[in-house]
Amino acid sequence: MAKQLFIKTYGCQMNVYDSTRMADTLAPLGYAVTDRPEDADLVILNTCHIREKASEKVFSELGRLRKLKQAKAASGAPMLIGVAGCVAQAEGEEIVRRAPQVDLVFGPQTYHRLPEMVRRALGPEAGRPVLDTEFPTESKFDHLPEEAAPQGAAGFLSIQEGCDKFCTFCVVPYTRGAEFSRSAAEIVAEAERMVAAGTVEITLLGQNVNAYHGEAETGAAATWGLGRLIRRLARIEGLRRLRYTTSHPADMDAELIEAHGAVAELMPYLHLPVQSGSDRILAAMNRRHGAEDYLDIVARLRRARPDLALSSDFIVGFPGETDQDFAQTLRLVTEVGFAQAYSFKYSPRPGTPAAGQPDQVPETVKDERLAMLQTLLNEQQQAFNRASVGRVVEVLFERAGRGPDQLVGRSPHMQAVHAAAPRALLGRLVPVEIEAGHANSLAGRVVDGRAAASSGGRPDSALADAQGGIAAGAGR
Ligand code: 5AD
Ligand code: SF4
Repeated sequence: MAKQLFIKTYGCQMNVYDSTRMADTLAPLGYAVTDRPEDADLVILNTCHIREKASEKVFSELGRLRKLKQAKAASGAPMLIGVAGCVAQAEGEEIVRRAPQVDLVFGPQTYHRLPEMVRRALGPEAGRPVLDTEFPTESKFDHLPEEAAPQGAAGFLSIQEGCDKFCTFCVVPYTRGAEFSRSAAEIVAEAERMVAAGTVEITLLGQNVNAYHGEAETGAAATWGLGRLIRRLARIEGLRRLRYTTSHPADMDAELIEAHGAVAELMPYLHLPVQSGSDRILAAMNRRHGAEDYLDIVARLRRARPDLALSSDFIVGFPGETDQDFAQTLRLVTEVGFAQAYSFKYSPRPGTPAAGQPDQVPETVKDERLAMLQTLLNEQQQAFNRASVGRVVEVLFERAGRGPDQLVGRSPHMQAVHAAAPRALLGRLVPVEIEAGHANSLAGRVVDGRAAASSGGRPDSALADAQGGIAAGAGR
């Protein structure tokens, strides 16, 4: 019988992609993905280290898993526990010390070595934790097998990894390592395989995705930026939608901005983190741009693609942030008008420059500022969703909804859309008239299901099932 693999994913979409690739590497060893940890022979936590809370979750989950492992061992069913991702990278030794139930600890650059690690954990040295947090000189992308399982109607493709920006609050340059771009030929080939397997929407991923500068499809003599890559990918027959995340404002070059106007497949939604509206704080964060630069980029993007919706990340209570600084963040938010956003209290991360600054902002002040900012951002999001009511939007149905005949998909602007629709519409792009706009989602009705079912997409309900197995954690 196949062995069962349960992967729990925390944090960013990069981790979601990595989890699918870990499952791919373990398929040849006979591991099939399950969504039930109690059935698993191997449980992997793919972790996030970006803020303290995210890291803490891992240790409490490990406590629960220790009990499960003991219960399973008592009934004669051994279970391996692995910790992957950025907490493994940053706190590998500590995990081994604090959590003896863990068999494998391995960082984001080592996933291609996972089969070997699992063999070791099951071999004569079983019981001794296997630790691999190296940054190997070989790229994991050259050694990962081709994707074993289709990702579903909407899939992720990692094109870039790591970061050389060193924002003073951020652990990513330390946990994911230096910036690396895959070659365009490799990315095009993976995208073509995904589309052949039924994916119609691809989100290109990277910690700093628009810093992409991979070898051109024509060979090593030239490199391509993200704008060029997007134009090439859009030519793949059957690929209907493209997105990319996460971007840095300083890397929003003219070619990429132009692609937003020229490439119809590139969806009119962009997650472009700004973090703060204060030049002083942006400089202290080492963000390499000011508030006006951000507004200017947004204006240029909107000139290229007038219906572009924007999303962003914000940090409140960065060391030294005054009321005036924070007021400038609110001003920037008001000026831009975001369709969606994530906002966080500054969380000092060990080893990052800002963590050692003396002028830390008290927790109560952070709480107040976060509440104010979120009130404003929520208002903007609700207004944006309400403005969709009465419109017909194209929805890519990705999964079953709560009700028996409900499906859920995404609008071009990334809004979750719920509608009554038959399962035959899974994996298809369907016109939906929006009838209600809620805080976090839209509800609508399929305009003409039969017409939609006979055009575009793929009639493959197995697609939806294939998406089920890898559990995503609490999101960002
Ligand atoms: N504290 C709070 N938020 C952080 N982020 C990154 N590091 C920290 C930190 N130390 C946020 C940033 C980033 C997002 C992914 O997480 O807003 O864009
Ligand atoms: Fe972190 Fe800044 Fe790099 Fe983004 S750009 S991953 S916030 S260091």
